[in-house]
Amino acid sequence: MSLRKLVAGNWKMNGLRISLGELAPIGRAATAAKRIDVAICPPFTLVAQAAANADGIAIGGQDCHFATTGAYTGYISADMLTDAGASHVIVGHSERRSANHETDADVRAKAEAAMEAGLVAILCIGETDKQRDAGRAGLAVASQLDGSLPRTATGDTLIIAYEPRWAIGTGRTPSSGEIGEMHKLIRAKLIDILGTEGVRVRILYGGSVTSHNAAEFLSVPDVDGALVGGASLTAAQFVPIIEAAENVSQ
Ligand code: PGA
Repeated sequence: MSLRKLVAGNWKMNGLRISLGELAPIGRAATAAKRIDVAICPPFTLVAQAAANADGIAIGGQDCHFATTGAYTGYISADMLTDAGASHVIVGHSERRSANHETDADVRAKAEAAMEAGLVAILCIGETDKQRDAGRAGLAVASQLDGSLPRTATGDTLIIAYEPRWAIGTGRTPSSGEIGEMHKLIRAKLIDILGTEGVRVRILYGGSVTSHNAAEFLSVPDVDGALVGGASLTAAQFVPIIEAAENVSQ
């Protein structure tokens, strides 16, 4: 079964108000691309303004807390993102798993909070280079998925992003064959855990996606879209990725 693809941009800690100017051309490309969905996850400071102005683009946060409210200085809850106009949120990004020591249990609680608040959770998983070199990439990814996937997830409330850690921001990527193998494994595990609903959960590939490799990666079976970091910061780089996704969805 082929699922509707999603091309999502993760701006990370990049973007000032002036950067919102990129959203108009991205929105035009997104509106023209009828067969796919497009999302941008800007920093928290831009979420409300982006959501108010983005035409044809879903807006997401890059993280949320597992609690709704409370004494958690500096954090943002899923409800706050919904209130600001977001429809999506990334949880368990590898930069947060490593820099903030987020565990699978933490990530699962965040994904549950996101779904509870009506957001679509984009749940990131991916192996380290050491794990891949040791031939344990599949095991590592399956165990992360098992530990961080909410059991109530559906194809409408949750998306998986497979992002090998060693491919993020490095310009190094797995081969299409390696990506296909891992997405197949993730699909099987999703069905194992969620039953038939696991067939409907989209699985994005992320890690050094650019306009040069997007068409190739997006043509791989079970690659239902892309999570794009660096190449999502400007419309000039991101629009060709949207167009590639639309073209391979013919
Ligand atoms: P990258 O980042 O495209 O810059 O490698 C991807 C991500 O971290 O989501």
